[in-house]
Amino acid sequence: MFSKSLIDLYDLDSDDLESLINLALKIKESPKEYMDRCHGKIMATLFYEPSTRTQMSFKTAMLRLGGQVIGFDDPKNSSVAKGESLRDTVKIFANYADIIVMRNPIEGAAFAASQYIDVPIINAGDGGHMHPTQTLTDVVTLKSELGRLHNLKIGLCGDMLNSRTVHSLIKTMSRYEDNCFYLISAKELELPEYVLDFMREHKVEFKTFDNIEDCIPDLDVLYMTRIQRERFDKEEDYQRQKGIFILTVDKMKKAKEDMIIMHPLPKVDEIDVEVDDDKRAKYFEQARYGLFARMALIIKMLESDNKSTAQYDLSDSLCKNPKCITQTETYLKPYVSTVGENKYCAYCDTKIN
Ligand code: CP
Repeated sequence: MFSKSLIDLYDLDSDDLESLINLALKIKESPKEYMDRCHGKIMATLFYEPSTRTQMSFKTAMLRLGGQVIGFDDPKNSSVAKGESLRDTVKIFANYADIIVMRNPIEGAAFAASQYIDVPIINAGDGGHMHPTQTLTDVVTLKSELGRLHNLKIGLCGDMLNSRTVHSLIKTMSRYEDNCFYLISAKELELPEYVLDFMREHKVEFKTFDNIEDCIPDLDVLYMTRIQRERFDKEEDYQRQKGIFILTVDKMKKAKEDMIIMHPLPKVDEIDVEVDDDKRAKYFEQARYGLFARMALIIKMLESDNKSTAQYDLSDSLCKNPKCITQTETYLKPYVSTVGENKYCAYCDTKIN
């Protein structure tokens, strides 16, 4: 049962996720069969933050399905620049489009927008929080390249704190049996509390490392990430963190012959350019899988008439995360989700109590 909007890939049940992955791989084999599937449909892309892959692959996906695309790639060219609220902007686009794709630098923005419109909305990245369509891309890549989504030793290296792709990937891959995460990061850039709580709650196996060399021989997948400069409050903090973890040809000599290297991209300096020539480097193919993954997602969401069934409680306390959408769009109701004894902001997942 597809839900109305896609805010977090974890919201999909296992059958829906499986059917999405299978559809993406079918489209990859015979894309022409799907060229009219969205004829007459319009997708709006609202990009409040820069993007190459996500934006262009969504647009290409809709065009390859026979649909059309409207939207903006810089909020300065829209009435957001005049002070229009997120709520009003999405309500207007919902009058024009059948489906909305939104990237926003503020955590929880897609969930906030989904409360005010009836057309489906896809979270194309909300600050450092979640990036479900990158994760869909990643699982399609893993399934195609390795043939399985279980029993994998997955190294995650770099900025665990701010890499939304990593947060989404951990939650999704935790559904499958016998996966183990090798978390390689500096202490200051460890996973946020809500992801660690999730891992403990779901008994997800993980180990921590402060260098690549110690764990690379064990890995089936090494998922590199960029240090997310735009998420740091101070430039000197970024300067201290950059360049600590660099994957080199020398380090790759210790990796298994069938290990694959993934990266959501863009990359900066965390992978030496010589590594691009290693047949185990799959990040450019990964971006291509993203096109088929997004074609599959658009089809499924437009062909589903299901409504969202998620329920949240109202809280007395407001979220204290300064990067949460509730801090800037102050009309939002303070919804929370409850897990055991703990309450988490429904927008950004920060622990409330
Ligand atoms: N992986 C990813 O989200 O890339 P873009 O920021 O270029 O969309």
